Amino acid sequence: MIKTHNLTKIFPRSTVPALKEINLEIQDGEFVSLVGRSGSGKSTLLYLLSTLDTPSEGDVFYDDINVKMIPQEEIFKLRNKKIGFVFQFHYLLQELTAIENVLLPARKAKELSQRRELSLRLLDEVGLKGFENRYPSELSGGEQQRVAIARALIMEPTYLFADEPTGNLDSQNGQMIIDLFDKINREKGTTIIYVTHDKEFAARARRQISLADGALL
Ligand SMILES: Nc1ncnc2c1ncn2[C@@H]1O[C@H](COP(=O)(O)OP(=O)(O)OP(=O)(O)O)[C@@H](O)[C@H]1O
Ligand SMILES: [Mg+2]
Repeated sequence: MIKTHNLTKIFPRSTVPALKEINLEIQDGEFVSLVGRSGSGKSTLLYLLSTLDTPSEGDVFYDDINVKMIPQEEIFKLRNKKIGFVFQFHYLLQELTAIENVLLPARKAKELSQRRELSLRLLDEVGLKGFENRYPSELSGGEQQRVAIARALIMEPTYLFADEPTGNLDSQNGQMIIDLFDKINREKGTTIIYVTHDKEFAARARRQISLADGALL
């Protein structure tokens, strides 16, 4: 379970909080979409929930453990093994091929060989069979985004955070990604929280969270 208590983020050089006193509870196995206008705080919330950024005030709890109290090396482990993150602006390493990018977290965790088969399956599931050995510069924006989605799933995370995973995709490919999320959520019980501006994609989640001006609606 992920819980927040009065979660607040004020960026330096900014006077208005990007998030103000968010109290939220997400149970294990939930399938959640996060919606709201541009600038409402969706990415900020996703970063804080996933431990990739730290709050100005307030707390995030994983299974009732305050993230602030978790030692740094345990946080690294949590991020590498239990948390998958799809960035709004996907960051692939340009010098690695698609499959090498997908396997990067596995390499870090020294689980390269046992995850190779899964990496092929995931690339297939995001519609990139046959693209395994392409470099990012040889892929379209949407194809790169789908590689990043496969990379976020390679460690079979307990929690998946995806910041506009369908942002660069046409409706058919977007549908395929949401179908994959739905399947992973049902089959593995993965907690999935994704940001989208698309009403239809947002409705596919079993719970919708709306943000406006840094607050929950
Ligand atoms: N590093 C930063 N420094 C200062 N202000 C920031 C920073 N990052 C975000 N903000 C501000 O915080 C607010 C929330 O930003 P955030 O990126 O969370 O919005 P969002 O809902 O994800 O928007 P979008 O749909 O455009 O991605 C915005 O007003 C933004 O300008
Ligand atoms: Mg955003």
